[in-house]
Formats: sequence, structure tokens, C-alpha cells
Amino acid sequence: YTPLKKRASAKGIIYGAATRRDLLESNPKLASSFVQQCGILVPEWELKWNFLRPTPNRFDFTAGDWLAKFARTHGILFRGHTLVWHEALPEWFEEVVNRQNAEKFLVEHITTVTKHYAGQIHSWDVVNEATKIDHKRSDGLRNSPWLEFLGPNYIELAFRIAAEQDPKAMLVYNDTELEYDIPKHEAKRGAILKLLERLKSRGTPIHGFGIQSHLYGHETRFNPKKLRKFLADVASLDLKILVTELDVRDQNLPKDLKTRDRIVAAAYEDYLSAVLDEKAVIAVLNWGLSDSHTWLAQYAPRKDDAPVRPLPFDSNLKPKLAWNAIARAF
Ligand code: XIL
Repeated sequence: YTPLKKRASAKGIIYGAATRRDLLESNPKLASSFVQQCGILVPEWELKWNFLRPTPNRFDFTAGDWLAKFARTHGILFRGHTLVWHEALPEWFEEVVNRQNAEKFLVEHITTVTKHYAGQIHSWDVVNEATKIDHKRSDGLRNSPWLEFLGPNYIELAFRIAAEQDPKAMLVYNDTELEYDIPKHEAKRGAILKLLERLKSRGTPIHGFGIQSHLYGHETRFNPKKLRKFLADVASLDLKILVTELDVRDQNLPKDLKTRDRIVAAAYEDYLSAVLDEKAVIAVLNWGLSDSHTWLAQYAPRKDDAPVRPLPFDSNLKPKLAWNAIARAF
């Protein structure tokens, strides 16, 4: 059967997934399926602060370099995730970083990391999840250490430093929980548009918007028209759009495997057929390729303890109905 990356590229879309060095090294079947199906690789862990910064003044690129080499060896594009986030910060971060030195740490991090990978990166998630509606700010921004220490301009600063060090990389703002027709997602879409408009109006070197797309199999309030309108508004800012972390949690779905797989596949099909109508969409990445390794096993486990099945391949790397749904959407 024609692999997903081939079907996608026939529509001008890059298809790929997140993976990890330890998974590829320990599971040859995953590694070969990854090479067969994926045209782009994003490290699930290895380019986050806690992986890159074991101590305040030491960077460790070993794992990131291993994945960059794996991608290069197999003719797969490599995308970076993520230069600025409020999670996956190293143990030492809290007691070391403060109002006085936060800018130094941010500038040094982005400079060092984007310089190290300059020329090897298709696109960077420069800033991840900077909005949070519950924090009740008028600009919808999240009260992260970065906002607390540096104010809203940390976002523009991050993009400018990344652009200086790697003018070839597409620079992306990545966010989540905005896909559905529910009040919080609607508010999030508004805050994101305001943020993107502000960045663009200030000449910030930002080229794309990443929509994580962690879908809920049980969630029925999906309004394709509203999502399409949002994507068109983003595209009208002269931004490309990437589906960056696609999966469908089946945490609250019935136990029966066939029923679960069918609902998960339908969620993939509904979502992708809406999103892929937007011609600014250039990439679709799953957050993992096989059910054997999904963050949802820890993050959104089922009450009945049955293994979760959010991804296109099962744990033996057999394609599931979800695979067909994604294939059809391309
Ligand atoms: C997740 C990883 O998959 C987990 O293994 C880790 O424990 C936490 O981070 N949004 C993101 C990703 O942008 O970086 C997160 O990845 C999933 C949610």
C-alpha cells in the first residue's frame, strides 16, 4: 500500500511524526515503518530544555544530533520542538532563573540551539503554548516564568533570535486546545489570532502557525466551518499552517476495540478533511506513529486500563482504520 508520506506529498503536504531515539534504537520495526511512512521527524523529547540543558552552563546535543543524523541518513526532514515552553524545564531552572537573568538565559538558549542546528531544520516550534484562557489576561497569554520575568515581548524576542541564527528555518508559533466548537477553544482561537496579528504588525520573523491537534474521540462539538474560518484568518496573515501533534485520545470511548478504532478513524477523517481544505497547510505530523509509544498512555489512560489506541499503527506496526482515514484525507 502507498505509504502516507507519498499520499501526502501528492497533495503538496509533508507527512510525518514525533519519535524518540530510545524508541528507534529499541524497536527496529518502528524504525523501518517510520522511514517507510514519514517524510519529516520531530523529536518528542530531545530538543526540549530538560534534555538540552543538564546544567545551567552545559548543553548536551547528543540525542538531538542522533535524531538529526537518523533523519538525514533516510532523507527525512527534521523539525525542532521547542525553543520556549513553560514545561520540560530542567530541574535547576526554578532556583537559577529570575527576573534579572531570564533574558540572558533565553537569548543564550535560543542562540546556542538554533546555531547548532542551523541549516538542518525544516521548521522550529519557537514558542509553544503561550496562551491560557484560564489565566484571565486580556491578551489571553499564559502566566509562565517567561511572561512573568520578561513580559509579552519574550515571544517576539524569541523569534528574532532564532531568525538571526538560522535564516533558513521556518519559524512557527505552536499551540493547542483550539480545535473544537467549545467556548474555551473559541476564546483561545481569538487570543491566538490577536497574538499572531500583533507579531506580524511588528515585523516579527514568524512564518507559520502550528496547531497541535490533540483530538478527543468522544468530543462531538467539532464545527468544520468555524475551524476553517480560523485557519483562513491565520493564512491571511501570510502564515503557513502545520498540524504538529495529531492524535485522537480514546480515553472515554467504549472498551470494544472495533468501536474504538472506528470512532478514532472518524475523528481523524472529519478533522483532516476540514483542515486540508486550507491550502496554507503544508505539513501533518502525528504525535507518535504506533500505539506502542504514545504519551496518552500516561497522560490520558483509560479507566478500564485497556491500552490506548490513538495512532495510525497498532503496537505491532499494523496499519489501523485510523491509517486508512489519514490516507483517504490526503
Ligand atoms: C509530551 C511528551 O509526549 C511526553 O512524553 C512528555 O512527558 C510531556 O510532553 N504538547 C506538546 C508536547 O507540545 O511537547 C507534549 O509532549 C505533548 C503536548
